[in-house]
Amino acid sequence: MKKVCIIGISGKLGQYMTEHCLARGYEVTGVCRSQSLSKLERFANRITVCPGRTNDAAVVAKAVSGCDGVLTVLAPWGRDNYASGTVKAVMAAAKPDARLVYSCGWHISRDGKDVYSRKLKMIVGLFGPIARFLRFADLDDQVRATNLIFASDTDWTVVRGSDLEEGESEGLPVWASHVGDPILASNRTRRTDFALFMVDALTNPQLICVAPAINGCQTPSAVAHRNAA
Ligand SMILES: NC(=O)c1ccc[n+]([C@@H]2O[C@H](COP(=O)([O-])OP(=O)(O)OC[C@H]3O[C@@H](n4cnc5c(N)ncnc54)[C@H](OP(=O)(O)O)[C@@H]3O)[C@@H](O)[C@H]2O)c1
Repeated sequence: MKKVCIIGISGKLGQYMTEHCLARGYEVTGVCRSQSLSKLERFANRITVCPGRTNDAAVVAKAVSGCDGVLTVLAPWGRDNYASGTVKAVMAAAKPDARLVYSCGWHISRDGKDVYSRKLKMIVGLFGPIARFLRFADLDDQVRATNLIFASDTDWTVVRGSDLEEGESEGLPVWASHVGDPILASNRTRRTDFALFMVDALTNPQLICVAPAINGCQTPSAVAHRNAA
């Protein structure tokens, strides 16, 4: 892993992933909307940014050129298939053997075997239709996007984040194949550690074609699991 592209580099997750990639000595390129370029000023001269929307195939092609890994923030904004358009642009342009790591939330299920709390079901059930009605976001498109990934023959990983919080790193999050696993019960990950997991996945062959659901390694449920083991 020498050169990595971050699609959605200006967001909170994108900036943390940039820090982790630079700390590992990777050459970093990225894509973000023009109006967000100023958020990346602290990385000036250390990264190369291609301004544009993340579903713009030409911009993405330029940014991922020569990259061994692509980290994509899957954002379901608007009603114009932004997330699935982003996935299509990444898959079309990335090297065939590139490691492709995508972010999303626990609500995405690969095989329907995740067990969700009533609270999460209620949030998705309420937020989804309201966001769609207001044309603000389209959670269904994030589902379409991840279905494209699951069906692809690329070296993908879909990292499913729990509820997030800010704060110092606690270390690499724990993960399970399915939401509902007791190790995930605390449902809380530091955003910088979500980013750490994404970057670590680039070089972890065990995570190829896997959709890990993650949780902070210092949360009570993760600690209880460790103690029991
Ligand atoms: N927030 C949570 O609690 C949570 C929980 C679990 C998983 N996740 C997952 O984590 C990832 C990022 O979450 P985050 O909360 O840390 O957010 P974030 O990093 O701030 O990312 C939001 C991304 O969306 C872009 N964006 C914002 N408004 C947009 C618009 N109107 N049109 C196009 N792009 C827009 C941002 O780009 P700009 O810099 O240009 O605005 C940024 O790249 C997502 O994949 C999400 O599904 C989040």
